[in-house]
Amino acid sequence: AAMADFIRGLPKAELHLHIEGSLEPELMFELASRNGISLPYSSIEDVRRAYAFTNLQSFLDIYYRGACVLVHERDFYDMTWAYLKRAQANGVRHVELFFDPQTHTDRGIAFETVVTGIDRALQDGREQLGISSGLILCFLRHLSAAAAMETLDQALPFKDKLIAVGLDSSEVGHPPEKFAEVFDRAQREGLLTVAHAGEEGPPEYIWGALDVLKVSRIDHGVRCVEDPSLVQRLRADQVPLTVCPLSNVKLRVFDCLEAHNLKHLLDLGLCATVNSDDPAYFGGYITDNLVAVQQALNLDREAISQLARNAFEAAFLSREQKQTYL
Ligand code: ADE
Ligand code: ZN
Repeated sequence: AAMADFIRGLPKAELHLHIEGSLEPELMFELASRNGISLPYSSIEDVRRAYAFTNLQSFLDIYYRGACVLVHERDFYDMTWAYLKRAQANGVRHVELFFDPQTHTDRGIAFETVVTGIDRALQDGREQLGISSGLILCFLRHLSAAAAMETLDQALPFKDKLIAVGLDSSEVGHPPEKFAEVFDRAQREGLLTVAHAGEEGPPEYIWGALDVLKVSRIDHGVRCVEDPSLVQRLRADQVPLTVCPLSNVKLRVFDCLEAHNLKHLLDLGLCATVNSDDPAYFGGYITDNLVAVQQALNLDREAISQLARNAFEAAFLSREQKQTYL
């Protein structure tokens, strides 16, 4: 209990959080009814029962369907505000969150509706909750590079609201190289880059994210340990890995938390961080992830402090801003 209290009290930075993955079933039902949208579930318990995943794709199918209740700017605001209140209760002081505009624009929702709703909540979070934040636009890698480029076109008028672009959705079969051109353009426009890699995909996808997409961080990256020369590169450059322990178990990347390689990553000298990914779907926010992984891997206070420090080091904040948190 002393350890759990220590973890709860730590100031945290969250760097791998899909805002659509923070949509709790209760709010999903409320938005469905507000917008006259029918859901394939009869009750909250029915939703929870459906959240039994066998791999990444089995989750994505359900996650994209859940996002269909988001229609108006207010819906995106309410979802983001609900996350920020949870984040505050978890001791989160800084968050860099992902959003998936194509999940919405492909249903006829304007890009502006999505980004404005999320951004307004982030502004209120800074003013009313003292949580600093940044927004990362993720391209859906199962869609084409041309569709990603079209999305970047729609985003550029709102560039001042974004810090980076990222890459998510179905990993295997969609290597980073597919998006070389759009990431190159995003960088020329002044945006940073990150990418999901080495979650289900092989170490080669992590190499591609580093060398072709020029990413500042790798999202997940747990499969890096299969390639010693890759581990050497990640350690030498202190490339942060945004690891999501409860997600990895729910999506069967690891059989159980006890089998997770987070401690190994830290022992290798890598800049690993702990994050929640899609907390409404995977059963826990950032504190739950830290408490669960501390217990499963018997991490000591020094390891927990290292994880918390790593997150602020890995954040897209100036040296001066980091100093105020560290
Ligand atoms: N979209 C939301 N969560 C994701 C994950 N863990 N991997 C890939 N795409 C995602
Ligand atoms: Zn993710």
